[in-house]
Amino acid sequence: MKYISILAVCLLALSVNAKNVHEQIHLALGTDETEMVVTWTTVHAISDACHVEFGLHHEKLTNTTKAATTHFKHDGANFYTHRSLLTGLKPATKYFYRVGSKHTGFSTVYAFKTLQKGGKFLPKFAIYGDLGYQNEQSIPYLKQDVEKEMYDVIFHVGDMAYDLHERHGEQGNDFMRSIEKVAARVPYMTCPGNHENHGNFTHYDARFSMISDRHAPQHNAPLAHRLNNHFHSMDVGPAHIIMFSTEFYTYTKYGWDQIARQYHWLEQDLKRAHSNRAERPWIIVMGHKPMYCLGKGDHECNQETTERPFTRRGIHMHKDTNSPLKYGLEDLFYKYGVDIQFYGHEHLYGRLLPLYNFTIMSGSKEAPYTDPKGPVHIVTGSAGNREIHSHFFPHPKSFVMDHHLDYGYTRLTFVDTHHIRLEQTSDDKSSLIIVDANKTTWKQIEAKKAEILKHEQNLIQSNIHQYELQQLDENELMIDQRNISSKSKFFDDEIANINNQESSIQLEDAKLQNLVHNLFFDEVAEKSYLEQLINANYSLNHFRELIIKKQLIEMKRYNKSMEKIENERKYLQKLELKEKGFMKMLFNTIPKY
Ligand SMILES: *[C@@H]1O[C@H](CO)[C@@H](O)[C@H](O)[C@H]1NC(C)=O
Ligand SMILES: *[C@@H]1O[C@H](CO)[C@@H](O)[C@H](O)[C@H]1NC(C)=O
Ligand SMILES: *[C@@H]1O[C@H](CO)[C@@H](O)[C@H](O)[C@H]1NC(C)=O
Ligand SMILES: *[C@@H]1O[C@H](CO)[C@@H](O)[C@H](O)[C@H]1NC(C)=O
Ligand SMILES: *[C@@H]1O[C@H](CO)[C@@H](O)[C@H](O)[C@H]1NC(C)=O
Ligand SMILES: *[C@@H]1O[C@H](CO)[C@@H](O)[C@H](O)[C@H]1NC(C)=O
Ligand SMILES: *[C@@H]1O[C@H](CO)[C@@H](O)[C@H](O)[C@H]1NC(C)=O
Repeated sequence: MKYISILAVCLLALSVNAKNVHEQIHLALGTDETEMVVTWTTVHAISDACHVEFGLHHEKLTNTTKAATTHFKHDGANFYTHRSLLTGLKPATKYFYRVGSKHTGFSTVYAFKTLQKGGKFLPKFAIYGDLGYQNEQSIPYLKQDVEKEMYDVIFHVGDMAYDLHERHGEQGNDFMRSIEKVAARVPYMTCPGNHENHGNFTHYDARFSMISDRHAPQHNAPLAHRLNNHFHSMDVGPAHIIMFSTEFYTYTKYGWDQIARQYHWLEQDLKRAHSNRAERPWIIVMGHKPMYCLGKGDHECNQETTERPFTRRGIHMHKDTNSPLKYGLEDLFYKYGVDIQFYGHEHLYGRLLPLYNFTIMSGSKEAPYTDPKGPVHIVTGSAGNREIHSHFFPHPKSFVMDHHLDYGYTRLTFVDTHHIRLEQTSDDKSSLIIVDANKTTWKQIEAKKAEILKHEQNLIQSNIHQYELQQLDENELMIDQRNISSKSKFFDDEIANINNQESSIQLEDAKLQNLVHNLFFDEVAEKSYLEQLINANYSLNHFRELIIKKQLIEMKRYNKSMEKIENERKYLQKLELKEKGFMKMLFNTIPKY
């Protein structure tokens, strides 16, 4: 008995072990929709070749792609990164895959979906910064969303593990294990934050695999030579998305030339994207530190003006204060009509009005995000992390449209190629969407929607009644025309019926009441004619005329009300979309400045 139980324990340990040899699996977009990068870690060397097995069916992972392995050894951290580029995939197709090697076994099977081709595809994203291994508030909700296949791509705008290098890299291992639930199923795109700066961002570079040459792919070069985890860009549906490093401006101890290198790359990339607006009308940039800040306690941010001068206006290269400011990003992004800028760093959610050089550039006062004249800045750095929340400046600037301290993340949906919907979820409120709805207005919208629905239902009922009337009509016509009194009663009832309906569809809302009033205004003359007819004695012809007249009135009333209801609906939809942070963007011509 003793032997058996020890053996059983050993077997169990072995099987658990074997399953976890290949771990921390995460995806990144390949060159285009026909590729996917799979990256994973082993904490030990693997003696035989590592590869990805994949295929269209869970049971038939018949295709194989080899992985390239790099050994990372840096101040106590010691692990192996395996990277594999899957190619020749069909767009918009679900693939199953697992990673591993013959001798050491394979991971569990995951699935991902490749992107659709071209600019007509309407993708959905999750975007956030500042997640961390401790207090990783958003992970359970992201996992839920991903299981429902809600996203095509997830963007993490810096500050990953707090920090990847800590505990000899164990913090990094733990974070990457945690995010695997999400990142092994959806491409997980990144740029660095200040918490990745340790050792010139080496831990960060050892973990991620962002392809940098999508516009001119070097298909024959080894994957490792094609990566740049600091700045890179991609086309997804109607958007060109750029992820870049704000950290070059802070960690100049690692070199000044990378500020210039990135700036020139950004300019070329923006130029290219801008000339491709017909296919991809949106340009979205993502970085870690916002140009305009909302929170206290950041010495890099001017507490008076709430700007981060060196990314916004530029930097004195080599700390030479006699030299002009260079490589400021606000002018560059404005020049090429960047539509939205997403940032993290501040542990909060904040959305600014369209803004350039401290000037509000709203589309209009009522709908600031419809055809704005400048970029919209959004800070979404509240996914979790052990440093907890930031504190807002006590008096937000006039261009701060909305701000919240809840933990959560941003969802971006393309409604069509020119409309984006933004939502902010709150982890604190179990994933409830807290933004961009103005709750008061929202309640009013909901009440109005209910009213309109009721109005419509009443009308539809009256239409059914009208149909019955038509049936009756034929029967009534059979009745002896001399039976006037009973016919008179019939019409009295009908008139009463109309009046009843009329009062039942009277709405409390003044505007709609007005509408109903106007609606009947035209009919007053016809109604009195109707009454005259009833009071008089009439022939069968009069009777028919009366019925037809009545039906016409009913129908006209019905049509008019329906039309008005449609208009009310459209108006409400507009209001609703505006309240949800709906944006219509046609900010795609080079502005003069
Ligand atoms: C998978 O393998 C099959 C059979 O060899 C091949 O026809 C197909 O092109 C492969 N698919 C990919 C995506 O490599
Ligand atoms: C830091 O890394 C970058 C590449 O990401 C490199 O260009 C730079 O020279 C490095 N700096 C130092 C000080 O090693
Ligand atoms: C930005 O605003 C400042 C202060 O109002 C002004 O001096 C500067 O010329 C403006 N820059 C541009 C590019 O318009
Ligand atoms: C929300 O809407 C209400 C009513 O429309 C308005 O009074 C209030 O100022 C709005 N709040 C914000 C934060 O916009
Ligand atoms: C008059 O109409 C009523 C109700 O439709 C009916 O009950 C009655 O029999 C009719 N009388 C004559 C004389 O046709
Ligand atoms: C209508 O006809 C009835 C009898 O058929 C008669 O009693 C009544 O006076 C007439 N009314 C008028 C306004 O002519
Ligand atoms: C009511 O609308 C229907 C369908 O749009 C149309 O055919 C009909 O002529 C309209 N009736 C009146 C009285 O306006």
